[in-house]
Amino acid sequence: MKFELLKTSNAYAARAGLIQTDHGPVETPVFMPVGTRGTVKALTNEELISASASIILGNTYHLYLRPGMDVIREGGGLHKFMNWHRPILTDSGGYQVFSLAHMRKIEGDVTTFRSHIDGSLHTLSPEKSMEIQRMLGSDIVMVFDECTPYPCDYATAKESLTRTHRWERLSREAFDATDPLWGHTQALFAIVQGSVYEDLRMESAAYLTNLDFDGYAIGGLAVGEPKAIMYELTGKVCQQLPAEKPRYLMGVGKPEDIIHSIARGVDMMDCVLPTRNARNGTLYTRRGKINIKRAEFSKDFSPLDPECPCPACQNHSKAYLHHLYKTGEITGLRLNSLHNITFFLQLVREARQSIQEGRFSKFYENFCQTYPMEED
Ligand code: GUN
Ligand code: ZN
Repeated sequence: MKFELLKTSNAYAARAGLIQTDHGPVETPVFMPVGTRGTVKALTNEELISASASIILGNTYHLYLRPGMDVIREGGGLHKFMNWHRPILTDSGGYQVFSLAHMRKIEGDVTTFRSHIDGSLHTLSPEKSMEIQRMLGSDIVMVFDECTPYPCDYATAKESLTRTHRWERLSREAFDATDPLWGHTQALFAIVQGSVYEDLRMESAAYLTNLDFDGYAIGGLAVGEPKAIMYELTGKVCQQLPAEKPRYLMGVGKPEDIIHSIARGVDMMDCVLPTRNARNGTLYTRRGKINIKRAEFSKDFSPLDPECPCPACQNHSKAYLHHLYKTGEITGLRLNSLHNITFFLQLVREARQSIQEGRFSKFYENFCQTYPMEED
């Protein structure tokens, strides 16, 4: 993997860059649609490509449980299995074991847990997460970490950070001791933790920078802390990270979070919001979000956003989307998902273009004035 920094904003820390992988380029800043179980929910690969998705996410935890590594191995790795030949980033399972699994016990560096699907007993460790991600064949592999909940007292955060740093070093060693299985190279990203404590975050960024990863993620944010804390820590951690490596803010976020993060120096983000919200009728527009199930749309025959290139906006009215939602038609969920993914991808692409053309400040200030900000 190669990362090239193309342009940095004058007034803000926003950057435009280019990641090169064996499965093609990723222009940054980038929004990565979440394909937890080997599909971005409700969408086909062709639709993702039409929406110009350049990289998608997969999850070690889910794919390890279902379909399982035997199927992935025989299927030729995740790219081939799902027939997606653009880049894939896989999360390590670190976060999902702590947020989804039932029962969880850490003994040494091995975490035992029960599957949230059938209660069966499994383990994950830095070594095992690397082995699984080698088998998946993702272009970007994430270290196995522990995501602290919010709130988290200082002593607990510090103890967790010591463990996470050990796990990240073990991830690095296990990754370096193994080879890719599918003929393309894989990159390894570290994850900065440290809860809401600035000194721990700085310590984490410094420790991980020393281990020389291909990129650096910021984890443990967007877990319920006030927005002001998230933005401030994001900015401070970005300043502490090496400029020549990509930075990834994990699990973020709402459109306003994404733009504020880009302004603070983040290059990559992912979030389930566009797809999850699409399935409950929440649709994004440049003036904020609307809920298509509301009665006010039942006879609104205008498009959701005439300027949006997605099929929902180009071919249908709000009244039709309202009707599909009310009747529970699958096509409604698909059109809503297509629209929201198109919206998120387009928003970040516009931010990128403004950075490249030296007018990010204007883009940012205009966005802040026109997009309604939500309270915490
Ligand atoms: N996704 C969102 N936050 C996190 C995190 O802290 N760690 C990992 N591994 N994944 C995440
Ligand atoms: Zn649309």
